[in-house]
Amino acid sequence: MSIGIVGLGYVGLPLVVAFAEAGEDVLGVDVDVAKVAGLKEGRSHIEDIPSERLQAVAERTTFTTRAVDLHETEAILVCVPTPLNRNREPDLGPLLGAARTLAGVIAAGQLIVLESTTFPGTTRDHLVPLLEESGLEAGKDFALAFSPERVDPGRTDYTLANTPKIVGGLTEACTARALEVYGRVCDELVPVSTPEVAELAKLLENIFRSVNIALVNELAMLADRMGIDIWEVVDAAATKPFGFMRFEPGPGMGGHCLPVDPFYLTWKAREYDMVTEFIELAGKVNKQMPYFCLEKIERSLNEAGRPVKDSRILIVGVSYKAGVGDLREAPALKIIELLRDRGGDVAYHDPHVPELPQFGLRSVEPADCDLAVIVTAHPEVDHGAMIDAAPSVLDLRGMTRGLRDAKVRQL
Ligand SMILES: NC(=O)c1ccc[n+]([C@@H]2O[C@H](COP(=O)([O-])OP(=O)(O)OC[C@H]3O[C@@H](n4cnc5c(N)ncnc54)[C@H](O)[C@@H]3O)[C@@H](O)[C@H]2O)c1
Repeated sequence: MSIGIVGLGYVGLPLVVAFAEAGEDVLGVDVDVAKVAGLKEGRSHIEDIPSERLQAVAERTTFTTRAVDLHETEAILVCVPTPLNRNREPDLGPLLGAARTLAGVIAAGQLIVLESTTFPGTTRDHLVPLLEESGLEAGKDFALAFSPERVDPGRTDYTLANTPKIVGGLTEACTARALEVYGRVCDELVPVSTPEVAELAKLLENIFRSVNIALVNELAMLADRMGIDIWEVVDAAATKPFGFMRFEPGPGMGGHCLPVDPFYLTWKAREYDMVTEFIELAGKVNKQMPYFCLEKIERSLNEAGRPVKDSRILIVGVSYKAGVGDLREAPALKIIELLRDRGGDVAYHDPHVPELPQFGLRSVEPADCDLAVIVTAHPEVDHGAMIDAAPSVLDLRGMTRGLRDAKVRQL
């Protein structure tokens, strides 16, 4: 018996490796032919999973585009994307596509778990009818559960093993089945009464972050006008040992989760005549941040008597967060676009992102520029040397907090 993983991205591939390292045989399925080909050759496309780690479990892993092979597995964990469409509404296309495929291959006695982030009711109202086209009944002939992924790319202190795993089955027996399977790779399990509780719990976690980031970003814009150092404010507030949780301001929210997932709930809430105002407001404030950063860049250049047009601006760090190369919804991309619209001569340095084809740019070594802007603070970048070399610096990440230097400005 083996574990099947459907969708081999940021979520699916770490699961493959975790189960294989725990001694399970794992079948990884993805519709992306190139990804599967790379994995078959032992090449990882996910930074958190070095190729060597993948190669070390090669004997216990099989990668394929053939979903039919899932028929033989004991459990199937579904980790496909849940994006928004052009109208910023949930696009369940990949998820429903995967469910339709599974209906043709699932076997009696299997466990199916959805890990993709989505609105409450997806598992019961959307997956069940499609999976039951197999002729098997959910909760009776096969077990079904929702268990949200909580992986934080680039993070090493909290992993799949030591991050508690929430599990909500369609029935108590479904939950018990899923707990048994996850118990092989997770130290702590959190059973909840329904898939809907698990679905909404994951969204609450993401909305909590989005709202708090927006709060501190709004205060950063106000503090800027008031001439108060927001970084010193946050450091001071964070000394309170209770009733406060630290969030840092920044150039905006990126990644596949925070700018996207909360709007799954916003969409669903309309069905219940509810407007999720916190989510909308947080999205609005966070989306405004790249424009505020542009204004700060203009002001920094202005101090040196320069317009944006033809100024050489070096963006330091373009991925959405430190330590990873993920560009999804990265605020740096918006900042570059805005600077280019104004005629800025933009270059970038990012050890995790060798090129930005959409801008025709390749990462350069920190070079001669009029202004260096720290947008994402990767740990391996020598910011001290970069600051020494640049004539003017704008720090959007608080790397230079406390530094009193006329050429350095902060968010
Ligand atoms: N990336 C994160 O940090 C993170 C954290 C927690 C939860 N999530 C959630 O997990 C889910 C997956 O996210 P991700 O970041 O791993 O996405 P991803 O884009 O990195 O990976 C998804 C993979 O699924 C494949 N796929 C698409 N449709 C398929 C199908 N029908 N059958 C088989 N494979 C298919 C894609 O080719 C891709 O390789 C999303 O719902 C996301 O919100 C992501």
